[in-house]
Amino acid sequence: MRILITGGCGFIGSNLAIFLKDKIKNVKIDSIDNLSRKGSKLNYKRLYKKKIKNFKGNIAKPDKLARLPKFDLVIHCAAEPAIEASRKKIEEVFNSNLVGTFNVLNKCIKDSANIIYLSSSRVYSMENLFKLNKKGSVKENFNVENSKSIYGFTKLSSELLIKEYSYLHNIKYIINRVALVSGPWQFGKEEQGFVSLWVWRHLNLLKLSYIGFGGTGRQVRDVLHIQDLCELILLQIQKLKKINNKLMNVGGGQKNSLNLIQLTKLSTHVTKNKIKIGSIKKTSPYDVPYYVSNIEYVKKLYKWRPKRDLRKILTDLYFWMKPNISTLRKYF
Ligand SMILES: NC(=O)c1ccc[n+]([C@@H]2O[C@H](COP(=O)([O-])OP(=O)(O)OC[C@H]3O[C@@H](n4cnc5c(N)ncnc54)[C@H](O)[C@@H]3O)[C@@H](O)[C@H]2O)c1
Repeated sequence: MRILITGGCGFIGSNLAIFLKDKIKNVKIDSIDNLSRKGSKLNYKRLYKKKIKNFKGNIAKPDKLARLPKFDLVIHCAAEPAIEASRKKIEEVFNSNLVGTFNVLNKCIKDSANIIYLSSSRVYSMENLFKLNKKGSVKENFNVENSKSIYGFTKLSSELLIKEYSYLHNIKYIINRVALVSGPWQFGKEEQGFVSLWVWRHLNLLKLSYIGFGGTGRQVRDVLHIQDLCELILLQIQKLKKINNKLMNVGGGQKNSLNLIQLTKLSTHVTKNKIKIGSIKKTSPYDVPYYVSNIEYVKKLYKWRPKRDLRKILTDLYFWMKPNISTLRKYF
């Protein structure tokens, strides 16, 4: 089997490429990545050591994709994943996240390749999320009609395009509406990957701020360990003949949810460092106070569940960062 991972030098793509290479017999894995994300050059080196080739190219342009070899399966991870970026750099996000999916799908048709898509929990409507009960969780039938950010729009539109192509060209798909994922090799920043950023800042005694909703740190999210995501995608590949053309929420779920104050406490516990947390009251129009995935469907479908808890996620981040602190410094 030959697999193409788009965004293979990103956080999810690189971990997935290495995991699948180790787990699947006789697999050939390639990546296409334009190395635009800070840290992707480091991941590129990890792939190279594992004999996974990255074709450097922009998926928003069809030419490079069209010249790649033939694949059986595409795992589509390449995107600008920061919601805030989609407010400031609309054209870039639209091209990478939506035109990119269009080009990737055309490659799938050419190769008769199936597709596993990394969509996002941000396809759900913000105003409906605001009304959510603070103990609730979001199911797949939650409202997607109202505004969801330009990022969310590109992810939802990509989902719809995948379904259209699947209908017309008979390719199989799996759409994962992924919540926060974290773990080693995530180069977190304020707008994206904040769990890894939190550990990094604690480890290095750097300043952090609670941003938005009065600056009190009460926003809640669920978090999934990257290893749990990799295990799920392996199952999705193995069972694709039987389980296909499905869409599901994927996340840490209620058990793996926390607010920023709890994240601070856990980071202090894991790193043994206490830092000053500032407060910025102003809320971005794209932020939501509460999101927790309902993962009952994916659990039932694959008999899968997140095995690693929040403490394990932060501990694994810490043990990745600590010995590599000087190398990693320029990527955070
Ligand atoms: N990490 C999360 O918590 C999370 C949550 C929900 C959904 N997702 C989705 O999962 C996917 C992977 O996210 P990630 O966290 O690994 O992000 P990432 O930024 O680490 O990885 C994305 C990779 O895509 C590459 N890329 C971006 N635009 C490109 C383009 N036009 N052409 C070629 N390569 C391009 C980047 O260089 C980067 O290496 C994304 O589609 C994202 O929307 C991630």
